[in-house]
Amino acid sequence: MSDLLVKNARFKDNKVQDILILDKIIAEIGNVRDSIDIPTIDAKGYFVTTPFVDSHFHLDATLSYGIPRVNQSGTLLEGIKLWGELKPNLTADALKKRARKLCQWAIARGTLSIRSHVDISDPSLLAVEAMLDIKSEYKSWLDLQLVAFPQDGLIRAGSKTNLSKALELGVEVVGGIPHFERTMEEGTESIKYLCELAASKGLQVDMHCDESDDPMSRHIETLTKETVRLGLEGRVAGSHLTSMHSMDNYYVSKLLPLMSEANVSVIANPLINITLQGRHDSYPKRRGLTRIPEQLRAGLTVAFGHDCVMDPWYPLGSQDMLDVAHMALHVAQMTGAAQMRECFNAVTEYPAKILGLDGYGLKKGCKGDLVILQCMDDIEALRLRPARLYVVREGSVLSATEEVISNLNLSGKKSSTDFIFSKP
Ligand code: FE2
Repeated sequence: MSDLLVKNARFKDNKVQDILILDKIIAEIGNVRDSIDIPTIDAKGYFVTTPFVDSHFHLDATLSYGIPRVNQSGTLLEGIKLWGELKPNLTADALKKRARKLCQWAIARGTLSIRSHVDISDPSLLAVEAMLDIKSEYKSWLDLQLVAFPQDGLIRAGSKTNLSKALELGVEVVGGIPHFERTMEEGTESIKYLCELAASKGLQVDMHCDESDDPMSRHIETLTKETVRLGLEGRVAGSHLTSMHSMDNYYVSKLLPLMSEANVSVIANPLINITLQGRHDSYPKRRGLTRIPEQLRAGLTVAFGHDCVMDPWYPLGSQDMLDVAHMALHVAQMTGAAQMRECFNAVTEYPAKILGLDGYGLKKGCKGDLVILQCMDDIEALRLRPARLYVVREGSVLSATEEVISNLNLSGKKSSTDFIFSKP
C-alpha cells in the first residue's frame, strides 16, 4: 500500500494539518477532505516529524555485548581488544541475526536511515558481505548506507586491499581511523590515501577522526586540507572529533573556519563519548564531546550518531535517536530553545543532508516518510522521548504504538497523562 491520508498532524510551526500521500509521495498538505477513499490514520493533533536518521553506527558489532566477555574497564581500547577477540568466532548467520533485530528496533523508534561503519579488517570480508545482505533484505523499510571501516588501522593492519575489495562489493563510503595508526605521520598518510581513493571513485568520506582526549591529535586539520586539495567539499565528514574538546582555543578559532570553507561535516556521538572520554583524567574530568555549539555557529553541518548499542564499547542503548539528542544537549549545555531545536535537527534533517538522502522532508513532492510522536513539538520530544505512534515509509505504516495513557485513581478521580504531556 502506498497511499495514505494522515489527519490532524501538528507541524513544527504548531499548525495542525492533514498529509496526503499518493503513490509513495507527499501530494498535499492542508485540509484534505475526509471522503477520500484511501487508508487513513488520525494523528490526533500530535507532532509529526521526518524520520530519524542515525549517521554513525556499527551494525556488525551491535548486540554482541558479553560475547565472549564484557568490557570490564569500559574503555575504548578494551572495547577494540574485545572486538578483536570476538572477530575470529563471528559467523554470517549470527551477524545477520543481530543486525536484523537492531534494524527492527530502529524502525519501531522511527529511524529509517542508518549510516553504518563495517569493519573490513578481516580478509574474508565476512561482516561486509553480511551487512550488504542486510542492506538488501531491509531496503523496503530502511536505508542502510555502509562505510568501509579499517577498525585496526589502514596502514597498521595492512587493510588497503580489503578496503578496495569492500568498495568493489558495494560499500559506498570510504572510512578511516587515522588516530589509531602507529604514528601521526602514518595517520596523515592514511587520510591522504583514503581521500584520494574516494576522489578517484566519486565516493563520500566519513572517518573516525581524533577520537581521543589528546589536544595534539589534529588529523581533522589534514582531513580538511585533503578535502580542499581533492575537490571533495560537501562529501567529507569527520566522526567523533573529540580531541577538539581539549584543543587550545586559539587553534580551534582557526580550525573551524577552515572546516567551514571545506564544507566538512561533523558527526558527534554523545552517548558513547561521554562514557569513553576523560578516562585518563582524575578530577576535573573532561566531557570529551566535540565542540557542537561552536561548530554550528561556524556554519558547519553537525549530526549526532548512536554509534553503539550493546556492543564491546557500550553496554546500553535501544537505538533511539531521541536518547542520543537528549544526551547531546545535556553534555554540550545546549538548553536554549533554539539550541534544543538544533539538537532535534541533528538527528533528523542535518544527518539527512550528510547522507545525501533524496526526497527527505515534510513538504509536497517529498517521500511519504514520517513519524507521529506522542508529544506537541520537537522540544517536548526531546524531554519525553515519547511513543512513536506511527512510523510511515512511502505511505505504508511500518510500525504503530498505542497512545500511552495512565489512569491514576487519586481521590477517586481518574486522570490521564496531561500532567506529563501537553495533550492536544
Ligand atoms: Fe564509531
